[in-house]
Amino acid sequence: MRQFFEKTLQSSQSEIMSQNLRTQNKAYGIFDVPFLVRLIEAHKNIKSALDIGTGDGSFALEIAQKLPAVNFLAVDVNANIISQANSMATAQNIKNIAYAESFFDRNFPLKTYDLIFTKFTLQHTHDIQTFINEVHRRLNPGGLFAVIEEYWLDTMLEDKVWQGFRRFMLKTYKAFGSNPFVPRDLPSLLQKSGFANIQSSLSMNSPSTIGIDPFVDLLRIMPGHVKVLAPDKYVWEDSFLNEMEVWIEKSIRTGKIDPPIPIAHVTAQKRSSSS
Ligand SMILES: C[S@@+](CC[C@H](N)C(=O)[O-])C[C@H]1O[C@@H](n2cnc3c(N)ncnc32)[C@H](O)[C@@H]1O
Repeated sequence: MRQFFEKTLQSSQSEIMSQNLRTQNKAYGIFDVPFLVRLIEAHKNIKSALDIGTGDGSFALEIAQKLPAVNFLAVDVNANIISQANSMATAQNIKNIAYAESFFDRNFPLKTYDLIFTKFTLQHTHDIQTFINEVHRRLNPGGLFAVIEEYWLDTMLEDKVWQGFRRFMLKTYKAFGSNPFVPRDLPSLLQKSGFANIQSSLSMNSPSTIGIDPFVDLLRIMPGHVKVLAPDKYVWEDSFLNEMEVWIEKSIRTGKIDPPIPIAHVTAQKRSSSS
């Protein structure tokens, strides 16, 4: 059965999600954009790319703008955000990307893409192994799969507020039926689908690496976003959020601590001999 983020949202919910994604992309994009651009530049044979679960489309647009020789198709199950994404591409006159309202499943054409990528989508997918199997079948032989995912492993065990933040994040994932540890499971899932050359690395998104303001924006938007998007899944406590605000001023803005949010960058290749 589809999870919350695999279903169509109402237009007011899509607007909230777009705001959230813009904040995330501004913060994490410092590492995520060069990761994907370098990958594509290193494989000159990539001519066609598919982004699954493109959301507001801003991440795929930035990549497409930097790589005009590659044709991008970016799909999302939500029609509202797709029409906004199309307008954004038209307004910026970026012609090598098309956005389409579509749910990625077995109905996509086989052996069609040189690259398939997906960002912050696998974590919300009800059957990750089937999703990866279907990705594998849609790639041309030798094609690449690139995944970008948050990885909520424990960091800075000694900081009480940071641990509280992480605890509420994990509860939020649970409320949405999402998986906060996808990067840990990915290598074996990719292997089972037949992928080779599996590589995984982490970027550490902390105040010192991505900037204090983008980091603080991330911390603030996550609880606020859920409250409006799905009030029944809201788990945060006001007393904790108040404590977090004091901590932001005293510990984050003063540079006393530098907690990292790890983001995994994973790549895998379909064997040239695969059908
Ligand atoms: C958390 S958002 C991430 C958006 C974007 N990749 C980013 O990071 O900015 C996940 C998106 O995936 C979409 N989605 C989830 N499963 C999908 C599927 N199987 N096919 C198409 N869209 C999907 C959701 O509608 C949502 O917009």
